[in-house]
Amino acid sequence: MRLPRVLVLDHTAREGGAELALLRLGEALQASGSFELRVLLFADGPLVSRLSAVGIRTGVLPLAGDVVTASRERLLAGGVRSAASAVGFLPRLVRAIRGSEADLVIANSLKSAVFAFVAAPLAGRRWVWHLHDRLARDYLPAPLVLIMRLMAVIGPRTIVVNSRATLQTLPSLARRKAALAYPGLPPEAFAQASRDRAEPVVGIVGRISPTKGQREFLRAATLVAAGNEHVRFAVVGGALFGEHEYEAELRSLAGQLGIADRVEFTGWVSDAHARLRGLALLVHASPVPEPFGQVIAEAMAAGVPVVASAAGGVPEILDEHGRAEGPWWTTSLGVLVRAGDVPSLAEAIAFALDDPQAADARAEAARIAASERFTIAETAAAVSGAWNGALPRRLAVR
Ligand code: GLC
Repeated sequence: MRLPRVLVLDHTAREGGAELALLRLGEALQASGSFELRVLLFADGPLVSRLSAVGIRTGVLPLAGDVVTASRERLLAGGVRSAASAVGFLPRLVRAIRGSEADLVIANSLKSAVFAFVAAPLAGRRWVWHLHDRLARDYLPAPLVLIMRLMAVIGPRTIVVNSRATLQTLPSLARRKAALAYPGLPPEAFAQASRDRAEPVVGIVGRISPTKGQREFLRAATLVAAGNEHVRFAVVGGALFGEHEYEAELRSLAGQLGIADRVEFTGWVSDAHARLRGLALLVHASPVPEPFGQVIAEAMAAGVPVVASAAGGVPEILDEHGRAEGPWWTTSLGVLVRAGDVPSLAEAIAFALDDPQAADARAEAARIAASERFTIAETAAAVSGAWNGALPRRLAVR
């Protein structure tokens, strides 16, 4: 019997969180040999060669540039033109799905899910939504939330969610067909990091965006710097989805706050993971609830202490049974801070820096927890199960 053919769709070929998760998952599934995996992206970009490099056949079916790159807010506002190009794109997508002879279609992003919702049934295929985003109004514009929730109920056969926090944003009818698969990390992510203790660097790592909280990070850094002359700071990452103004704003903010000489802005780096491993402390400062937060799992895996915003999927990562206790608090695995609360973030960072032994003990516990909960093998097993459940019975791998 032949292997089930699975076609994964994503609207972007840039390395956002969901795309990184896809790359890691794809590599593990490819190695397991249980599916014949293909990826179809709606734009060209770095993900194409990265997927191809791990042996995954990857194609590009270009959608108009403005639909691919627009932020969700702007896409909604500037609707008509994007709607027109989207309509032209649909028949091409239906043909591509048919031509791939896929048994199952996976949508790995919100935009690709909108297209899968229409194109998969037209092509006579079942589809699975791999949901990396919380369908909630504190995260997406309200009309989009409504549309997406409705789609979740009537569209996909199965929904794979990246956290319980994401799961909770689904309507109950959609929750019934959901499976949880935390984004996992490859074995090399679990090698222990070594850090410079004399000149500790506190860093925020990831895409530059107002939703990731680099502004809050810089403000908190200013308060921490005032009480600690040795500590330095790093903003690791660049703007990906049209947020270059915000990046420029951050650089001038560091000047205004008087900490320009204490902060390094690396811009986009190919070895973000190496930078992460050198940090004394990883700060995750998202003011909006993060659906999962892979960078936190990465820090945990490397044994780097973490201070993070207690919202969305983050408390689940750092403290499985935790509840909000105050403006900031420690768990057995890290330090949690009320999201968007700059003074508390500064206090929490200073607290973690002042007692490196306690921070190391939490980081070691976090490393063990991550090795039990966030391996890519675990993710691949959960996702394979969900895909198999969605496949026509005669094709499911037993
Ligand atoms: C998205 C989410 C992020 C998550 C990633 C992988 O980028 O915003 O929280 O870690 O997907 O699921």
